[in-house]
Amino acid sequence: MTHIVSQTPRLLGTVRPPGDKSLAHRALIFGALSDCPVTVRRLPDGEDVRSTRDCLARLGADFVDLGPGAVRVRAPMRWSRGQHLDCGNSGTTTRLLAGVLAGLGIPTVLDGDPSLRRRPMRRVAGPLAELGADVSTGPDGRLPLQVGDPGHRLRGGHVVLAVASAQVKSAVLLAGLNAAGPVAVTEPALSRDHTERMLGGFGVELVRDGLTITLYPHEGRLQGRDLDLPGDISTAAFFLVAASIVPGSEVALQGVGINPTRTGLLDVLRVMGGRVDVLARGDVAGEPVADLHVASAPLRATVLRGDLIPRLIDEIPVIAVLATQAEGTTVVRDATELRFKESDRITATVRELRKLGADVRELEDGLEVTGPTPLTGARVRADGDHRLAMALAVAGLVADGETVIDGADVAAVSHPGIWDDLRRIGGRGVVRTGGGR
Ligand code: S3P
Repeated sequence: MTHIVSQTPRLLGTVRPPGDKSLAHRALIFGALSDCPVTVRRLPDGEDVRSTRDCLARLGADFVDLGPGAVRVRAPMRWSRGQHLDCGNSGTTTRLLAGVLAGLGIPTVLDGDPSLRRRPMRRVAGPLAELGADVSTGPDGRLPLQVGDPGHRLRGGHVVLAVASAQVKSAVLLAGLNAAGPVAVTEPALSRDHTERMLGGFGVELVRDGLTITLYPHEGRLQGRDLDLPGDISTAAFFLVAASIVPGSEVALQGVGINPTRTGLLDVLRVMGGRVDVLARGDVAGEPVADLHVASAPLRATVLRGDLIPRLIDEIPVIAVLATQAEGTTVVRDATELRFKESDRITATVRELRKLGADVRELEDGLEVTGPTPLTGARVRADGDHRLAMALAVAGLVADGETVIDGADVAAVSHPGIWDDLRRIGGRGVVRTGGGR
């Protein structure tokens, strides 16, 4: 399916982003490991979270819908063995469930769509095997992942990760819940810490020391608690950038999670001269939440590298769009991880933004964008990547004429409502649905 985005004079209004996708996966999985039914509210309706729910249901967990965005999850009476699980497009579903199932020793095969099948899985199988788990990847270290029953509890240990990956860190911690001793994980830079925070709220003992987190095994099920999820800052990002670059815009974003491991974009916007106000609102589900107000502003280029990268890893395609409208050359380095996301996000972002006339260059570990450049509407493609689809939609708001995005409905992986949200704050004509691919 194609979506057509027109240049828009300005964006005005309020958006309530869907609940955080990363937190939603964890809330459902932890609910299925809990000693009582757990109600989750503001659950996003994207396909990735649906994949986690469907996989857990296949494994025996029970779900009851309580109304829009509200679901109650109950642990399986008995975990179903020998399932062949379809994780769809979702790396988080695959890697977190691999950790849970490896720790419990439940034989399972994890597989997914063509995009997920291209993504590296040794990074999760290797660390789990270090704890004595029976996990193997398919050919070339990719899917399908085979989890077996090693016939004994996993051993405690200290796993040192080569990449800052919250998915791999989480898999190791979840496997450690039933291990015979404490499990420590050290990462090269701090990735999002939602698993640690939420496990703590569910009664698990964890201790952080710099970049090392140690989990002490937990006897029996987790102490279930109901969760109201904060809004997803990675979805809010598209509106933050759009309102920053469409002249005359003012947009409010309600109830957005501002966990410091996720707020790199807010820091970057400030450095670039963006106008963002953060109106703190307190804590939800153990996570800080705020309303964000953003208005358009003249922007200047900046350099993004090092420890900042994991704090905005999912936002880099839309940051590249932001940089096309900033004065000077914005440089993104230390971001090789982007090549292993839903698409090779370095190559795909550079290729598609060039079609719109952006001055952008590919680097081995990132990209460079020189601006400000007037963009021109063109035919682009989402490459099976939800975040690229939405970044291109944001570019289309400032590009002269019309931007036709082929395969744009892949946005439904995280935010099917993006097109309605853009129509509401940009005017009815700003987005049309075309036919075709
Ligand atoms: C996620 C971790 C990140 C991120 C992904 C969600 C998570 O992936 O890019 O969108 O929920 O833990 P990596 O762990 O591969 O860095």
